[in-house]
Amino acid sequence: MSSISIIGTGNMARTIGMLAVAGGNTVEVMGRDQSKAADLAKALGGGATTGEWGAVPAGDIVIVAVLYDSVVPVVAEYGDALAGKAIIDISNPFNSEADGLATREDTSIAQEAAKAAPASASVFKAFNTIFRHVLEKGRPLDVFIAGDNAQAKAGVEAFIESLGLRPLDVGGLEMAHWLEGAGLLMMGLARHGRGTGTSPSASPNFTAEPHRPPVQAVGEQAAPLA
Ligand SMILES: NC(=O)c1ccc[n+]([C@@H]2O[C@H](COP(=O)([O-])OP(=O)(O)OC[C@H]3O[C@@H](n4cnc5c(N)ncnc54)[C@H](OP(=O)(O)O)[C@@H]3O)[C@@H](O)[C@H]2O)c1
Repeated sequence: MSSISIIGTGNMARTIGMLAVAGGNTVEVMGRDQSKAADLAKALGGGATTGEWGAVPAGDIVIVAVLYDSVVPVVAEYGDALAGKAIIDISNPFNSEADGLATREDTSIAQEAAKAAPASASVFKAFNTIFRHVLEKGRPLDVFIAGDNAQAKAGVEAFIESLGLRPLDVGGLEMAHWLEGAGLLMMGLARHGRGTGTSPSASPNFTAEPHRPPVQAVGEQAAPLA
């Protein structure tokens, strides 16, 4: 099981924290409002603790569950306290109309967070394509994950599996831009008749075992998507 710290005390912090406790992980909550952090830790139960804002997180995995425009400032504020940590950015940088991204085309919040983080930290993008309402139902779901450090990524994948979810590695951190686009796609579905009950799903015969597709020979025809 993993040791995680959650920075933030809002909806996603609560939902991921709830699943993390249910999955047997050690959970610490850090909020800029200490009383909100204490309330959330108490509500989560399972021995969840409260950490001091800006201090070295107790968890090896740090989930930054704040609004997108606060992710980079918060990572910068924590600074060296995040040395050696696996940092998960879950944010969706939507513009004010929620019909486009609020980031430049050549980057992502996760990539900017990596620039602000200590060199020894590893930043990942994950969870942003799943609406909280869907996540909190605790169903098997696919969690796309982008990031560069293979060893740290294996730890993040194990944590995701402990939540009863299936981690799907989409590649290096440069793929975070496209995951942020995928978050926008989910929002487009939500706003055009599907609501927030939609999510990338896991197959009925879901397995937490990582799925490694066979390498396709050059010239071989790809299988149809459906
Ligand atoms: N909700 C979803 O369905 C969903 C799904 C996928 C991804 N996400 C992403 O998850 C992240 C959190 O979303 P949420 O729904 O949990 O939002 P939320 O309920 O509004 O919570 C936001 C949290 O961020 C904190 N915060 C905001 N600005 C901050 C700052 N400058 N410094 C420190 N803390 C700050 C807030 O602290 P205070 O309480 O002290 O203000 C609060 O704890 C967002 O980036 C969002 O895009 C959300």
